[in-house]
Amino acid sequence: MAGQDVLENVGACVFDAYGTLFDVHSAAAQCRDDLGDQADALSALWRQKQLEYTWLRSLMGAHTDFWHITGDALDYAMAATGLSGDALREKLMSLYLTLDAYPEVPAVLAALREAGMKTAILSNGLPMMLDAAVSNAGIAELLDAVLSIEDVGVFKVSPKTYQLAVDRLGLEAGRICFMSSNAWDAAGAAHFGFQVAWVNRFGQPRERLPGTPKAEITSLEPLPALVCG
Ligand code: LAC
Repeated sequence: MAGQDVLENVGACVFDAYGTLFDVHSAAAQCRDDLGDQADALSALWRQKQLEYTWLRSLMGAHTDFWHITGDALDYAMAATGLSGDALREKLMSLYLTLDAYPEVPAVLAALREAGMKTAILSNGLPMMLDAAVSNAGIAELLDAVLSIEDVGVFKVSPKTYQLAVDRLGLEAGRICFMSSNAWDAAGAAHFGFQVAWVNRFGQPRERLPGTPKAEITSLEPLPALVCG
């Protein structure tokens, strides 16, 4: 990993959504009374299966949208943790549409925009899911674009997904700074050619994959100083 002052000539900051801007564990956290001591296990397995299904379906050539995958992953996680009930499933899915944004997100986006930077989301999420999360967090006016991989029909880390940002923002890959808390997404984006700041919110080791992030931060707070210098 290089130092923290190497992000140069950045024209746009593009963010992963889930885990990076929005806290995926906030849905289960709001259902602790229903989930009891299985809340954390359910939430972790829900996320893990959701991601696995994106990779596996991409390999199978059997794409379906991220809302469907999120539901399938929840069904698996509920079965594995001994939880059941249509009402609980519906409650958790509905909470997934209004996940909490991490506290620093609005101020960081505002600072980037003030410095003349374009800002965008590039996510596996369906437009319907992303619009709901963005609007719930009150950050719609702070984003130039909300891009969904549904437009290319394959999930990250296909290069086709990262190319969407290049095409829609009209900037070459090297001028795009991409942020993800998902280390595998950070690796995929760096391998594609973005300058990447890995938002290592969870203190994870780096992935042993091609593609090296240029910077590692633990929240989005230092980002404006890193890219606007
Ligand atoms: C996304 C997932 C990877 O938002 O977090 O694309």
